[in-house]
Amino acid sequence: MSLTGSALLAGVIGWPVGQSLSPALHGHWLRQYGIDGAYVPLAIAPADFSRSIDGLVRAGFKGFNVTVPHKESAFALAVRHDAAATAIGAVNLLVTTADGLEGRNTDAYGLAATLTQHLGAEALRGKTAAIWGAGGTTRAAIHALDGLGVAEIRLFNRTPAKAVALASSFAGKTAAKLSGAGYDAWSGRDVALIVHTTSAGMKQTPSLDLGLDDLPAGAAVFDAVYNPLETGLLAKARTRGLKTVDGLWMLLHQAVPSFEAFFGVRPEVTAALRAELVKALQG
Ligand code: ATR
Repeated sequence: MSLTGSALLAGVIGWPVGQSLSPALHGHWLRQYGIDGAYVPLAIAPADFSRSIDGLVRAGFKGFNVTVPHKESAFALAVRHDAAATAIGAVNLLVTTADGLEGRNTDAYGLAATLTQHLGAEALRGKTAAIWGAGGTTRAAIHALDGLGVAEIRLFNRTPAKAVALASSFAGKTAAKLSGAGYDAWSGRDVALIVHTTSAGMKQTPSLDLGLDDLPAGAAVFDAVYNPLETGLLAKARTRGLKTVDGLWMLLHQAVPSFEAFFGVRPEVTAALRAELVKALQG
């Protein structure tokens, strides 16, 4: 449908932003729900971030998704934060409100919704999960797994000190027991779920492989990487008979609260949406 003068406007801010799948994702939902609105890619250099956002808010933008390298500037710009953004320390959604921009984080929601969809809402309660990595995505994964009732979360990272520091930064903030270590401490015994959050495996790089031999039968592997969809890690997990979930699911689910905040409709993650995004990834 064409836009009217009262069209709802939103977009994704990045530098660069051409690789973002968010315009295709939100565009699909705008068409599906027949909404008078637009969601556009906004390439904004770091030095122009707050000035550009000011202008866009004055022009009527309802809000923004924020991607690399702006997630920290977005946190600083927000006049308040939701619980997830506060716990994770990063903002991927800025929502225009009467008194300024509210900073939210939908990544933990996206992972929790993905794991609930594929494993069931109670599947991880009381279980032990391992997270590979200790970066920004890891923080969102800790928040998500804690919310799903995981009893113990073990972080494993190439730089062990970062995993230890990340675990201690959550001390007293999670119900789950949290620890950090290097790859040499890796063991899959008792691990019900691996969440891979490093950038290894993206594009043509090799997947991180710490070994899947000692995982219990029935364990699951989630890979936050979605390009390619079938990473080396997921392929290996599948040949071992483990359940696998790819990162595109998290990308789809994390967009749901953003779309609702911008356009007032809570959208569905459908097979048609996923098929369109798979095509966009391959094109
Ligand atoms: P993001 O915000 O996407 O999570 P990040 O904060 O830059 O990204 O974190 C990147 C993570 O990927 C880190 O855990 C990093 O390990 P180090 O802390 O040792 O740097 C991990 N990482 C990146 N490339 C990797 C590789 N080739 N093998 C293993 N881990 C890798």
